[in-house]
Amino acid sequence: MSIDFKVPIFDVKNLSFIVRGQNILSDISLEIFNAEYIAIIGPNGGGKTTLIRMLLGLDKPTTGEIKLFGKKLSDFKEWHKIGFVPQRASLVDQNFPATALDIVKMGRVSKRGVFSKETQEDRDAVKDAMFKMDILNLKDKMVGTLSGGQRQRVMIARALASKPEILILDEPNTGVDMVSQKNFYTLLSKLNKEEKITIVFITHDIGVIADDIGRLFTINQKAIICNDPKKAMSCEDMSKLYGIDAHLIHNHRHEH
Ligand SMILES: Nc1ncnc2c1ncn2[C@@H]1O[C@H](COP(=O)(O)OP(=O)(O)OP(=O)(O)O)[C@@H](O)[C@H]1O
Ligand SMILES: [Mg+2]
Repeated sequence: MSIDFKVPIFDVKNLSFIVRGQNILSDISLEIFNAEYIAIIGPNGGGKTTLIRMLLGLDKPTTGEIKLFGKKLSDFKEWHKIGFVPQRASLVDQNFPATALDIVKMGRVSKRGVFSKETQEDRDAVKDAMFKMDILNLKDKMVGTLSGGQRQRVMIARALASKPEILILDEPNTGVDMVSQKNFYTLLSKLNKEEKITIVFITHDIGVIADDIGRLFTINQKAIICNDPKKAMSCEDMSKLYGIDAHLIHNHRHEH
């Protein structure tokens, strides 16, 4: 399969979302290209999750146009190309009746269809995803009994199982210990560099990954796009948009 590098994976034009007269997102335009590594930051309630939900067709924008892999969202069918780890994905009921392996296998359904039989290709993809996330040893454990960090890795393996071209992670590392986080960043970087998987990573922890990411989007109703994350603080209006947290990012960066 050849990839047309000129067609963005996501092409968003003049997107806005208004609920009961309140502007949640206003006039957002952005493009995300193949093999990019993008971080999205912004204050709580700034609209990051809402933007991602719209990109995935889960919420309908009030105005604007979204294209995925060059197709209008309504015509797009190849959802297996997109891996998504939602915010708080790792919160599951203690008694949820599935093993880690069952959960990762669910990631194949978008590719195979619900009614088709599991193939060797499915089994290989599941094993490969679990190997990458270092959770093969957890495969028979009930997911409700795993730790928060282990569950997160299971959810990411599920997203990787469909062999996506883009992986979207909505704050996947909240509550994960520092060593696990560091390993996790290394893994994301490897997926991006070696396998050319496009990564879109919503996080509040920008200082730690700034060396890896290519572009930084700040979302607070509007979008500010920084092409050089290392110069994020000099981006026009960045601190005004991000408020007090901008200083936290600044200090954080200098500690590393
Ligand atoms: N369908 C909806 N109806 C009403 N309000 C909504 C809807 N979706 C989102 N919002 C509001 O939009 C704002 C942005 O929410 P969103 O979850 O996108 O923020 P966020 O940037 O992801 O924040 P956080 O960092 O806390 O995850 C919030 O004030 C939220 O209550
Ligand atoms: Mg959110």
